[in-house]
Amino acid sequence: MIHCIGAGPGDPAYLTLRARDLLAEADVVAGFDAVLTVARPHVPPSCTEIPMNYRDQTARLAEVAALHHEGKRCVVVFMGDIHFSGFQFLERVDIACGHPVETVPGISSAQILASRGRVCFDETTFITFHRRGDLEPFKRHLVHVLQDQRNAIVIPRPWDFMPRDIASFLLAEGIPGEHTVEVWENLTKAEATWCGRLDTCTAEFTDMSILLIRALTPFPSQIHSSP
Ligand SMILES: C[S@@+](CC[C@H](N)C(=O)[O-])C[C@H]1O[C@@H](n2cnc3c(N)ncnc32)[C@H](O)[C@@H]1O
Repeated sequence: MIHCIGAGPGDPAYLTLRARDLLAEADVVAGFDAVLTVARPHVPPSCTEIPMNYRDQTARLAEVAALHHEGKRCVVVFMGDIHFSGFQFLERVDIACGHPVETVPGISSAQILASRGRVCFDETTFITFHRRGDLEPFKRHLVHVLQDQRNAIVIPRPWDFMPRDIASFLLAEGIPGEHTVEVWENLTKAEATWCGRLDTCTAEFTDMSILLIRALTPFPSQIHSSP
């Protein structure tokens, strides 16, 4: 059996009980170092840990798949929630195993941002640029989202499409500079926030940052829910 679980945004308090139970029953736990740190307190000492990085992930996932096919209970840990900006890694797990694997939702950095910024998901679109390959379709989509007066929660791509690159792209596409932008870093850990207008978003941020670009004209429910 193999389960892919979301570890949450960093603070272990946001690891779900379902994820904790799967870790407690696991024979094998795998993932990138940062997420293994969150999972480790719940992993039994007898469990085999398979850490990985960007360079060796294919080989390490092959090891996990081999143990899974031997009948071991395997857990692959993802950052936040698998279902936002996690599918390229999930596809690598599926390919290594030779079949689709189970996913267990976690708490995403986007959910924490929505809570901090009091944002209604119904009126918001999530876009990630943290992916391999062509960003152009996702850039076009972001322009359309803002033209449609929706909020956008955006994950940048380190290091070639960071918040200031996203802002300068949007301004060049004719999106008004008056949009409010918030950049949140290290949510649930050593949090830092920048808030300003799209046309003043020129600072550098770390790779643990996520943006909120607010619609220029909020939906009525946002007006009513403002503190
Ligand atoms: C590959 S994406 C994975 C996102 C994850 N699946 C989620 O639901 O949050 C990794 C990026 O998400 C953003 N991110 C993840 N956790 C974060 C946090 N605690 N604070 C701010 N940004 C975060 C950063 O931009 C990071 O580089």
